[in-house]
Amino acid sequence: MSSVEETKAKSKPFEIILDKEQIAARIGQLGRQITSDYAGESVVLIGMLKGCMVFMADIIRHISLMTEVEFISARDYRRERTSEDDLCYVGGNAPKIAGRHVLIVEGIVDTGRTASIIIDKLKHLEPASIEIVTLLDKPSSHRVKIEVKYRGFSVGNDFVIGFGLDNAGAYRNLPYVGRMVED
Ligand code: IMP
Ligand code: MG
Repeated sequence: MSSVEETKAKSKPFEIILDKEQIAARIGQLGRQITSDYAGESVVLIGMLKGCMVFMADIIRHISLMTEVEFISARDYRRERTSEDDLCYVGGNAPKIAGRHVLIVEGIVDTGRTASIIIDKLKHLEPASIEIVTLLDKPSSHRVKIEVKYRGFSVGNDFVIGFGLDNAGAYRNLPYVGRMVED
């Protein structure tokens, strides 16, 4: 595996930081941990589109519990203030989570603002519990106090792509995670 590859779409170089095997192994571990932590319960997984999609598809197959899956769409507000109005429930209606155990499924937590707003919003619906499950976390980029209970990998502050994560809409289909590098 070469350390630096280029995509035909954008011709921007990136370096692979997590390969398919590493990611698959870690997602298996996370799924088993969640299965054990919530033994005897059912969970509602709420995916944050679009970055969650590949991770969601993989992790649900490692969670041996009764599960339901919902999605929320949020604009990418990393450089601006995020508000509840930026979120929309896929399908139109808020998921029925009163008294349920909720797992927010994210591709990546960066400043933590998006996840934090979503948690505040969902708490009004009175779930029994609510936790974050993210494939990637950038702990040193957090700008709000947020507890990430289930993280696949901690990464640095570099912009990363692949495994569902995009740069300007591209690269979501890469089966590994890469870090953008200077041309
Ligand atoms: P936050 O609200 O700052 O935590 O940002 C979370 C969202 O920003 C993620 O769901 C991604 O859509 C996007 N994002 C943050 N960092 C990256 C990155 O390195 N690559 C791709 N998307 C990112
Ligand atoms: Mg994005």
